[in-house]
Amino acid sequence: MTTPLVEASAISRRFSRGLDYAERLARMMGANVEERVVHAVDGVSLAVNPGEVVGLVGESGCGKSTLGRIMAGILPPSDGVMRWQGRDVSTQGRSEAKAARLASQMIFQDPMSSLNPRKTIMDIIGEAPVAHGLVRRNEAADMVTALMQRVGLDPSYLKRYPHQFSGGQRQRIGIARALAVKPRFIICDESVSALDVSIQAQILNLFMELKQELGLTYLFISHDLGVVKHISDRVAIMYLGRIVESAPADAFFAAPNHPYTIALLSEVPTIKQRRRQFNPVKGEIPSPLHPPSGCHFHPRCPNAFDRCRIERPVLREIAPGHISACHLNDTPGKTPATAALSATY
Ligand SMILES: Nc1ncnc2c1ncn2[C@@H]1O[C@H](COP(=O)(O)OP(=O)(O)OP(=O)(O)O)[C@@H](O)[C@H]1O
Ligand code: SF4
Ligand SMILES: [Mg+2]
Repeated sequence: MTTPLVEASAISRRFSRGLDYAERLARMMGANVEERVVHAVDGVSLAVNPGEVVGLVGESGCGKSTLGRIMAGILPPSDGVMRWQGRDVSTQGRSEAKAARLASQMIFQDPMSSLNPRKTIMDIIGEAPVAHGLVRRNEAADMVTALMQRVGLDPSYLKRYPHQFSGGQRQRIGIARALAVKPRFIICDESVSALDVSIQAQILNLFMELKQELGLTYLFISHDLGVVKHISDRVAIMYLGRIVESAPADAFFAAPNHPYTIALLSEVPTIKQRRRQFNPVKGEIPSPLHPPSGCHFHPRCPNAFDRCRIERPVLREIAPGHISACHLNDTPGKTPATAALSATY
């Protein structure tokens, strides 16, 4: 069996939300006001094999970025074990931890906010490899030039600043910066969401070319199933901190199982009418501060029945490599309400 490159095992991450002024005042006056805790990630297990592209999808606030940051090694989990090439990262020595940390790089949605506006492209791309001793200072310009060419930027722009580039070009700068430290695992966090559709396609193509050439592995985070469909080997769906379904991409799109997935798929816009932001599933996303009991999806689920309000459904394998957390899968006579899927995109 393949050892995953990176593996999250029963990972949880909680954030305490401190009290605001009014709440502190109320507490001082004797009211029973408690600090609120967000379960951003709640017992998630997710393995990414070498060379694989895993698409991680879910609505805003479901915990995608938090899980991505944990898998990139830049945010510690509250509970659970993270493994890099099969080894528990909490037991790594310093140099091993540093190597694993460099080997995982994140590329964000808004390159402008992640690129220092006062630094030139040369410094932005060349700084980390020099600092980490991957390249000598006097060789950095050659390396940056080669990287700029590789990501489709004119190397004569080496001395320019981020504001002198378009959104798509800035994303290419972000990609070159990530590549400069020779990563193996790239977490793309909504990396194409802010771009126009035609530029999105160019950047997705670049990601796929780089994967082939450099043997990269991706966790591709998006709330857009249309984008994920084009590039993923496997898809995982998150809802309020939990993974509710995961399957090889072909099986996922041909035979989705979870009612939340089916609702998401039935709302995927066509390429022509794709909007940048959309809130696909009917009904409001519940507050992660007070998630619904049992199955978190039950208040919005067209198939919900009594058991769903009480008991948390566990992930079960319903076909090889295809897991889904829905009580319908072990309730005879009940099946998820399917929607007309293939015609929508
Ligand atoms: N540093 C933090 N402190 C407090 N709460 C946080 C922090 N980071 C994330 N959260 C909360 O954790 C939950 C999950 O957030 P996260 O950013 O991981 O979601 P997401 O799926 O990436 O959303 P989006 O699609 O909007 O980017 C949200 O309720 C968010 O408010
Ligand atoms: S467990 Fe119940 S509420 Fe949850 S998705 Fe399945 S049918 Fe819907
Ligand atoms: Mg996010």
